[in-house]
Amino acid sequence: MATRDATDVFSEWALRNRDEGMENGHAESVDEMLNIAIKMVKKPFSAIDVGCGNGWVCRKLQSYDNCSKIVGIDGSNEMIIKAENKGLGEFHLATLPGWKPSQKFDLIHSMEFLYYLKDPLEMLKNFFNEWLEEKGILIAGVDHYSENTASHDWPESLNVHMTTLSEEQWRQGMIDAGFIDVETRRVGVKLGFIGTLAIFGRMP
Ligand SMILES: C[S@@+](CC[C@H](N)C(=O)[O-])C[C@H]1O[C@@H](n2cnc3c(N)ncnc32)[C@H](O)[C@@H]1O
Repeated sequence: MATRDATDVFSEWALRNRDEGMENGHAESVDEMLNIAIKMVKKPFSAIDVGCGNGWVCRKLQSYDNCSKIVGIDGSNEMIIKAENKGLGEFHLATLPGWKPSQKFDLIHSMEFLYYLKDPLEMLKNFFNEWLEEKGILIAGVDHYSENTASHDWPESLNVHMTTLSEEQWRQGMIDAGFIDVETRRVGVKLGFIGTLAIFGRMP
């Protein structure tokens, strides 16, 4: 059976309000990621959340005093409708790769999005070359990665393509894209979960 587009699967999730469970499930990891990123980013800062789902991280970022602009982008029509209905903000319906923003940002945030792409490391290069301001920060979280063996059956159980990379492949991919001060860190670690792999770095 052919694999399904991740955006179609997540549109169905949105229609069944499963986006809310995802929001709760990802909140702890995202809070840790934002704590890391906010310390690193210049102030005031503009930000974009890539694969924003129902826009909950955009609304979180909007509450920071120093956040001057926040944009969300997602390829699921139903997620973007939800994001627009839940509050103010600029949201774009677009499938990646193949879209780029009309401005550059000081912070790119992404949670549980990158591995749905066929070539996520190429996307890191796009972020570096076309999306980020000088000294801008990229922080991305993934729960599906080689070391998280509990995630290995997700592509089959969801019938969706996922690119499985190791912590070292993500780290090297960031360096190859041109990022400096590259680090990976496990966040949201708890009993039975080895943690979200947070990958972050800075534009020179
Ligand atoms: C696991 S959900 C995470 C959503 C949100 N970041 C969160 O933490 O709740 C992945 C999101 O990425 C979006 N997505 C997957 N592949 C995409 C693509 N190629 N282009 C744009 N969005 C995509 C899906 O529509 C979905 O909303």
